[in-house]
Amino acid sequence: MTNNRLKGRRIIVFGSATGIGAATVKRLAAEGARVCAADINIDGATQVAQEAGGETFAVHVDISDEASVQKATEEAVSCFGGLDGAHINAADLRVIMEDSDALAIDLAVFDRTIAVNLRGHLLCTRAVVPHLTKSGKGAIVYTSSGSAHGGEPTRPCYAMAKAGVNALARHVGARWGKEGITANVLAPGFTVTGEMKKAMEANAEEAKHWADYFMARTPHTRLGESEDHAGVVAMLLSEDGRWINGAIYDVNGGSLMRA
Ligand SMILES: NC(=O)c1ccc[n+]([C@@H]2O[C@H](COP(=O)([O-])OP(=O)(O)OC[C@H]3O[C@@H](n4cnc5c(N)ncnc54)[C@H](O)[C@@H]3O)[C@@H](O)[C@H]2O)c1
Repeated sequence: MTNNRLKGRRIIVFGSATGIGAATVKRLAAEGARVCAADINIDGATQVAQEAGGETFAVHVDISDEASVQKATEEAVSCFGGLDGAHINAADLRVIMEDSDALAIDLAVFDRTIAVNLRGHLLCTRAVVPHLTKSGKGAIVYTSSGSAHGGEPTRPCYAMAKAGVNALARHVGARWGKEGITANVLAPGFTVTGEMKKAMEANAEEAKHWADYFMARTPHTRLGESEDHAGVVAMLLSEDGRWINGAIYDVNGGSLMRA
């Protein structure tokens, strides 16, 4: 179900080739936005842009590299003539299985996680804010995670980075709110993306174990999917989300509720 509430809005999505970002690009385009799909996986982003249709195009970006982030942002700005919104969503999830605990982790895992998942979000912020202030109604949505405030025995680097993203969003909302920028956070719970579905098909037994594990902890009829998040991001980037600033949206089927 879509509408035209983002008609003409110029939005860049960092981390758009697969999963939540890919679903968001398609949802934003379906609601009338002009979208730049930025990702380190340019083939994936190009395919997503083609599927999204409308005025969507793809650019390469490595969000851990300041020059690359600036270049991708400038490409979006020069194509659209400005920028009204950004979804800063990219994360390097390849090292997450080695993100064991605070004593055991290799510091290279910490460094890589912070370089992309936190410092990368700061670099994207620095690139887009000067353009969003010119818009007069600029909006940023960051993707963090329920792990930032859930408390988990594993993946401390990931959770630390995501907690930092929450702090960054609140800072941006407070610092540039008077200049028309809102900054909010999407904090997903466990979400079965298309890529995860493929991986699960390849290992059905383990997939069932994890699906049962998360279902037991989720007071809902099903697990989350990428599209559940895309609609929330679209709302936060639209006029419907205009009065929301510095908020963290836990989109998780209720899995962090306490009795
Ligand atoms: N799927 C979940 O269960 C879940 C839960 C909580 C939070 N999240 C968060 O949601 C966001 C999207 O995750 P997803 O599940 O869709 O995973 P995903 O791996 O499908 O998406 C991440 C995207 O970021 C891109 N990326 C990785 N490193 C990059 C870099 N250096 N520069 C630019 N792009 C880069 C990838 O190519 C990919 O397109 C992430 O921030 C993730 O931490 C996901």
